[in-house]
Amino acid sequence: MPGGYNSEYTQDDVAAGAIYDLGVYTAIRNPKSLRDVRGQTVIHKFLKQQYPNFQPGKILDMGCTVGANTLPYVDAYPNAEVYGIDLAPAILRYSHARAESLGKRVHFSQQNAEKTNFPDESFDLVVSHILLHEIPVPAIRNVFRESYRLLAPGGIMIHQDARLFRHLDLYTAFISDEETTNNNEPFWSAMRDLDLVAVAREAGFSRDNLINTLLEQSNGMQSFIIVGTK
Ligand SMILES: C[S@@+](CC[C@H](N)C(=O)[O-])C[C@H]1O[C@@H](n2cnc3c(N)ncnc32)[C@H](O)[C@@H]1O
Repeated sequence: MPGGYNSEYTQDDVAAGAIYDLGVYTAIRNPKSLRDVRGQTVIHKFLKQQYPNFQPGKILDMGCTVGANTLPYVDAYPNAEVYGIDLAPAILRYSHARAESLGKRVHFSQQNAEKTNFPDESFDLVVSHILLHEIPVPAIRNVFRESYRLLAPGGIMIHQDARLFRHLDLYTAFISDEETTNNNEPFWSAMRDLDLVAVAREAGFSRDNLINTLLEQSNGMQSFIIVGTK
């Protein structure tokens, strides 16, 4: 992310949001796309198939950036209130304008996903998309604990990310590790080695209520998801 997520150069700056939305590799590859393949995959290749009767009243997307993968939840669950949180102020201003311009209602706020100001059991669905590999292991543990705290009984947590090392052949794992060292992805390798089921159990989820699986995205790539129900 050129300039980093948290850059803010002027009052009411939105530049970091515009750079993420229009300038990073996913946008350059396909400028006309809404860049929502991760949200669409979680919803249509997992949630709607495994939980066809699930009708969440409140949904939270952690580390939402410009909300590209938050918006599919607005369409998929039209009766739900959808929330997006991120640390980055300039990005959140942009996210709000982007959602409004697309006619979608999302409550965006600047919050740390490790410790939000939402009351216990506020949400029926807590999700994130490619957040985990951006944060250090202690923060991942906190995000899982916070997800558990925020879920109402019967609620579902889904954290999506790129495949873990055990899903990769040796060559791809080597190239991916090289990326973490030389392309500003300092936390990626540690996250890929982590036992996320164990982290979820430490956070309060019981083993019987945890799923980790790979999903095929429509762009040919694969998503890793860790799912916990409370
Ligand atoms: C790779 S981006 C996520 C992309 C986004 N979810 C999407 O699907 O387009 C990582 C985001 O996580 C945010 N972030 C990092 N640590 C965070 C934290 N502790 N709490 C909330 N957001 C965080 C960053 O500011 C950044 O916007």
